[in-house]
Amino acid sequence: MSLPPPDTPRSSGSASSPLSASPGVPDSPPVPGSPSWSPVLHSATPLAGRVAIVTGAGQGLGAAEASALAAAGTHVVVNDLAGPALDAVVEQIRATGGSVVACPGDVADWPTGEALIKTAVETFGGLDVLVNNAGVLRDRMIFSMSEQEWDTVVRVHLRGHFVTSRFATAWWRDRSKETGGPVYARIINTASEAFLLGSAGQPNYAAAKGGIVSLTLATARGCLKHGVRVNAICPRARTAMTGELMGPAPDGLDPLSPDRVTPLVVHLAGPAGALITGEIFVVHGDVVALMGPPTVRAVFHAAAGHWTDLELDAALSTVFTSDPPRPGFVCEETIPLAESTFGESPSP
Ligand SMILES: NC(=O)c1ccc[n+]([C@@H]2O[C@H](COP(=O)([O-])OP(=O)(O)OC[C@H]3O[C@@H](n4cnc5c(N)ncnc54)[C@H](O)[C@@H]3O)[C@@H](O)[C@H]2O)c1
Repeated sequence: MSLPPPDTPRSSGSASSPLSASPGVPDSPPVPGSPSWSPVLHSATPLAGRVAIVTGAGQGLGAAEASALAAAGTHVVVNDLAGPALDAVVEQIRATGGSVVACPGDVADWPTGEALIKTAVETFGGLDVLVNNAGVLRDRMIFSMSEQEWDTVVRVHLRGHFVTSRFATAWWRDRSKETGGPVYARIINTASEAFLLGSAGQPNYAAAKGGIVSLTLATARGCLKHGVRVNAICPRARTAMTGELMGPAPDGLDPLSPDRVTPLVVHLAGPAGALITGEIFVVHGDVVALMGPPTVRAVFHAAAGHWTDLELDAALSTVFTSDPPRPGFVCEETIPLAESTFGESPSP
């Protein structure tokens, strides 16, 4: 397969080899030039002709991200568990002239990751953007959590991010080796402020999201020279996942609409994303906050080269004065960025 240089969008889909092995891939997905394609709407954006995968795109943030990328002229492979929700997203994107195919499946399954990349390459001629978004909740305090509640959440979020990233980065690395230079490649992962806060009722979710942040950093470092840019967003949006917590949408414009999150995703997917990697953003409403890295808070040295308990007490008791103690490695600064969302207040 001949490949465009990193700054050259794919000019059209190569629908000549539809994947018989991938469920849900139609014989003739809309591509530029097909009757359902609107070149006037799509051809002017910097993402026109690129190819993106969005996981968990059957509803909520993933559906909004897939629609926004399609509206920007990107060919989109949408993934979710097979069902009418995913079919409806495909229909909706096609109805507005977007180029989309479905590749259903459990995102944490190895074959699904493989099928997603294969679908992008064989249907549209390549892969430029991976949006890892699929997720579930099984909220429970740590002392009540079942084995299955832990495994399900860590599997879908953390393993689900890994599996797709594994196949996407392998494909990009091969292209980079072929061309002898960096390729155009973006991964946008989905973390959560739960990892910053250490949400007490979500130890599985907070741990998985913290893992996704670390995976983001490791992937960004590991694939930098091949051109891959990897960032994570911590969104807030009123969706099926958060509707109960956030309550009904207000009349008029909803500051917590998933559509408020999509501009950053499209931006990171676009050319400007070339200079952004290994970063964590909080995004909702009119807010985009760039998180700083953890800092070294205090350093102590043992006088004789190794610590005695007395010496440790003397050193650490200068810092830990609060009784009861407060969880120290917690970031609550993002909570008041919006006037109201989760109704959370900093923990006592
Ligand atoms: N909504 C928020 O305020 C918020 C806040 C922080 C993080 N997030 C994260 O954003 C992402 C999207 O959340 P949302 O609010 O749109 O939730 P949602 O429940 O509306 O959508 C999640 C989608 O993921 C799909 N999914 C679940 N398991 C899957 C699997 N194994 N394989 C493929 N698809 C699967 C679901 O079917 C669903 O369509 C999640 O990763 C979530 O943790 C959301």
